Amino acid sequence: MTALHVFQRPDTSEPITSLTAFDDISAFLAQAGIVLERWDISGVDKDSTSERLLAQFHDPIEALKKREGYQSADVISLTPDHKDRLALREKFLQEHTHSEDEVRLFVHGSGTFFVPVADQVVKLECHAGDLLRVPANTAHWFDGGEYPDFVAIRIFTNPQGWVGHLTGGDTFY
Ligand SMILES: [Fe+2]
Repeated sequence: MTALHVFQRPDTSEPITSLTAFDDISAFLAQAGIVLERWDISGVDKDSTSERLLAQFHDPIEALKKREGYQSADVISLTPDHKDRLALREKFLQEHTHSEDEVRLFVHGSGTFFVPVADQVVKLECHAGDLLRVPANTAHWFDGGEYPDFVAIRIFTNPQGWVGHLTGGDTFY
């Protein structure tokens, strides 16, 4: 289930606030300019090809692209036995920004985003059906876990320009 926890730095051992109701989570994130929507993922086969998944969500993705100026979409998939899972985890765990929105629709499994807001850190556990839009230039990091297991559609303004700019900020998970 989608969940949000807020940590007050410097003590990141226990959250000061936890939310599990989707509408509460969505409203909380909206204050930070982050969009969380629930999309209908019924009928998704996680073992589908990328082409088939993109075709399945063609209409809502095209509507989102048109509305927000996004240009393209692809599929990222990580499995618990991925040979580079540990290196990828370390990479994503570094705090970074992008010069464009980070847009993810989880169609299988889960992953956790962390977004520092002033002296607090928002930890968002995303699950299948969650569409997340983190605005451009917002510092964040991501943890797929020691044994990642998710499939997500990524939507880009400019996939060639989609790189992480490391901020050097302290992270935890
Ligand atoms: Fe990112």
